This record gives sequence, C-alpha cells and structure tokens, in this order.
Amino acid sequence: MQPILSLVGVNKSFGALQVADNISLDLPRGQALGIIGPNGAGKSTLFNLIGGALPVSSGEIRFDGQDITRQRANQRCRQGIARSFQIPHPFTGMSVYENLLVAASFGGGKTDQARDILTRTGLLDKANVQVGTLSLLERKRLELARALATQPKLLLLDEIAGGLTEGECQALVRTICDIRDSGVSIIWIEHIVHALVAVVERLIVIDFGKIIIIAQGAPAEVMATPLVQEIYMGIEIDDHAA
Ligand SMILES: Nc1ncnc2c1ncn2[C@@H]1O[C@H](COP(=O)(O)OP(=O)(O)O)[C@@H](O)[C@H]1O
Ligand SMILES: [Mg+2]
Repeated sequence: MQPILSLVGVNKSFGALQVADNISLDLPRGQALGIIGPNGAGKSTLFNLIGGALPVSSGEIRFDGQDITRQRANQRCRQGIARSFQIPHPFTGMSVYENLLVAASFGGGKTDQARDILTRTGLLDKANVQVGTLSLLERKRLELARALATQPKLLLLDEIAGGLTEGECQALVRTICDIRDSGVSIIWIEHIVHALVAVVERLIVIDFGKIIIIAQGAPAEVMATPLVQEIYMGIEIDDHAA
C-alpha cells in the first residue's frame, strides 16, 4: 500500500545552519512512528516542514498520494495533517468547546463531532470551562482534541508528555493508543522514552545538529543498539515499556 507520508531527499537550512540533510522517510498508513533525538537536533523543524509552517530548502513531501511540498499549512491541514505544539497556544479566553469549533473550521472537520472528540480525549465534563483554568494534563488533552477536530489522517505530536506526573503520562498514553487504534497515522517526538515505546511500533533516532537517521526499527531493538545507548546514556526503557 502507498505510504501515507513520504519525504524524498528533504533538505532544510537556516542560513549556514543545515538542519535537515537529505532526509528520506516513508510512513506506512496507520503506523505509529516515534522519533527521539537530542535538543536542537531539528525534530520540531521536521514537523514544521511536514505541516507546512516552514518551506523545505529542497526535496519533496508527499502526503496521501499527492505532492504537498508547495502547499500552505492550512491546505495541508485540510488534506489531513494535524499537529500538537511543543508549546501549546490555545485560545485561553474561550471555552474548551469553542476551541474545538475553531480547530474544526480551520481543518476539514465537522463541528458535530466535537462531543465525540471530547469524550475520546476525556474532556467532556470540561466542555464549557475556560481554557485558562485547565490543568496541565487537561491542556495536553485539549492539544489532542484540537488536532482531532481537524479530522486528521496524520497526527504529529511534539513532546506532548513533558511535565506530566507518571500517572498523568499513563493516562495520556492510553488516549494516544486509542487514537492510533482508530486508524490515524502518528508521528510522535518525545523525550519520555517509556511513554513513546508504549505506543509506537517503529522508532527513529536522529543525531545532534542534523536530522540524520542513525537507527530505526522496532523500539526495543533501536534502544538496544550501542550508538543509541551512547547518545541516550541515562535514558533507559523502564518497566512501563514492557
Ligand atoms: N525558524 C528558525 N530560524 C532559524 N533557526 C531555527 C529555526 N527553527 C529552528 N532553528 C534552529 O534549528 C535547530 C533545530 O531546532 P529544532 O527543530 O527546534 O530542534 P529540536 O526540536 O530537535 O530541539 C536549532 O539550532 C534551532 O535554533
Ligand atoms: Mg523541539
């Protein structure tokens, strides 16, 4: 089957700084892919390139059978690419429900699905609450809900588990597993490795300074390779990953 997303020889430079160096990557339809790599490696930039917030310097991005390389972010959103942001920026003066309506109108989603999305993300009882009063876990859930409101085929999650307690992290993992099981393809960038490997079936490690894929495959195998161990000394897959 045709991959949902393909990057073909993608390069990105900020002036003299080359952040993406000839990246080629296929995401099979329905796959949950994890990406880990040190701060500054270019992970969020990769999402900016896929989502259309930044143009590629060269190379091609294909989504769902189409060349989207030159499409704007809102066009890509309508095609079915949604992302959560490392630093969420919801409309804090609006309610949870109103935030979903705005997201649905930006993407290709239908507003009558808001209730279902709130249920799936555990926010139904917060529908009429002002976003400014939400807890951290609830704001993370809102990031997921806003992304789902655009009816995505591909969900890009950028370090969504950061700052949560272990119990909250597990709750978020369950919600992301539900989204995965509903058939949405996922790329998840995350420092909290045990949360990531509980969800993804393939893991890619990128090295500092540039996006160079240094290892990919089944999460446990990738984490066991000596190079990854060296880079990730101190970050271990713990019991939760089993
Ligand atoms: N819009 C931008 N303009 C200039 N430099 C940028 C821009 N976005 C990111 N960078 C630089 O690119 C590198 C990778 O950043 P980023 O993608 O945020 O890394 P990561 O998410 O892996 O921590 C960093 O050196 C960062 O300063
Ligand atoms: Mg980042």
